[in-house]
Amino acid sequence: MDAVNNPFEPGAGRQPATLVGRDDSIRQWQTNLSRMEQGRSGRPVVLYGLRGVGKTVLLTRLAKEAEGRSWIVAQLEAGTGKTLREGISEKLQGPLADLVLPNAGRKLLQALKTAVSFFRVSYDAGTGTFSYGVDLTNVAGGGADTGQLEADLNKLVHDIAAAAADQRHGLAILIDEAQDLTPEELRAICVAAHLVSQQGTACLFALAGFPSLPRVLSEAKSYAERLFDFQEIERLGDTPARLALTEPAGLEGVEWEADAIDFVVARTLGYPYFLQQYGQETWNAAEGTALTLPDAKVGAERAQLVLDTGFFRSRWERATPSEKRYLRAMSPDGDGGSSTGDIAGRLNTKATSLGPVRAGLIGKGLIYAPAHGRVAFTVPGMSGFINRQVLD
Ligand SMILES: Nc1ncnc2c1ncn2[C@@H]1O[C@H](COP(=O)(O)OP(=O)(O)O)[C@@H](O)[C@H]1O
Ligand SMILES: [Mg+2]
Repeated sequence: MDAVNNPFEPGAGRQPATLVGRDDSIRQWQTNLSRMEQGRSGRPVVLYGLRGVGKTVLLTRLAKEAEGRSWIVAQLEAGTGKTLREGISEKLQGPLADLVLPNAGRKLLQALKTAVSFFRVSYDAGTGTFSYGVDLTNVAGGGADTGQLEADLNKLVHDIAAAAADQRHGLAILIDEAQDLTPEELRAICVAAHLVSQQGTACLFALAGFPSLPRVLSEAKSYAERLFDFQEIERLGDTPARLALTEPAGLEGVEWEADAIDFVVARTLGYPYFLQQYGQETWNAAEGTALTLPDAKVGAERAQLVLDTGFFRSRWERATPSEKRYLRAMSPDGDGGSSTGDIAGRLNTKATSLGPVRAGLIGKGLIYAPAHGRVAFTVPGMSGFINRQVLD
């Protein structure tokens, strides 16, 4: 099959040709937006799951939905070395600049002034990047630069959402890799999300991250458990997994033979990342007009190799020698996770002495702590990779 037309999209955050199996999440988000447009309360969302299940592409889909309704949208990623304040500032500047018209109303000017103070940038009317080309000298607002993130974020979302509400729109803030936020940042988000829901302010938060995110949030603020709508993003069930293969190919007028679909769905266990990779390689291996079982078998070999040399190995290489020993000691337990006591036993040491190694691996996003005294791989199939390879 012509590689130029290959409709599969393996890769972190790469939007699939068809986003399957996430209709419930999308519908709930639409309901939240509609409710908030009518001045009713909405529920902030947490999408949690392993790497490669499709959190980022779903979050982007939710952001697009809000943008399509002319909401002010900031979608950002934590853990990139920027603070939450910097991330939000960077992503809000563009959308806010788009709103400024010569006859901007009082609430909008106030929101701009508050935003500029939150961004902590000096502005120079007419010339500076953040000037918005309006004079804010005699406008109320501002004051979102006290240094107290909690208070500042509240002020920011309140003023922007109030300005947006005049057009029956709102503000949506979507944060990926949210497990990498600091406890102070997580607390600020909980407090802001809590207050907007009480005040009926049209501001909707969505967070995405590892399966540890619900726990991390409730450790930051105990009421987080009741505040958010926690949605586990899992691998695809049988029917959507099939659609993830057949629909992109169908858009190019190409069919999968039934036994080829069965084979790929079984081999990938329905993990979206793997479905895209296997789909891509099967397509490239195919020489006839349809995708057959022999194509899928050749494709699977190549896909496995691509995943081993890229997806898995790039993670493995991130670990130090002592971290690699730790990961190896986890691998007999498979993807279900290990007890830290068992790992210590296998390494002939005490669990407490492995604390720094464990923390290093969590910091690198290679493992997470599903519960006290347990750790698990963030990537499905990592244990299989470790067991399969002769690794240093
Ligand atoms: N619902 C889905 N349907 C089809 N493919 C998907 C779906 N969700 C994700 N993918 C694919 O899986 C891969 C990983 O998606 P991504 O959003 O980066 O996962 P995560 O953020 O959970 O690590 C991408 O190649 C993407 O195209
Ligand atoms: Mg992601």
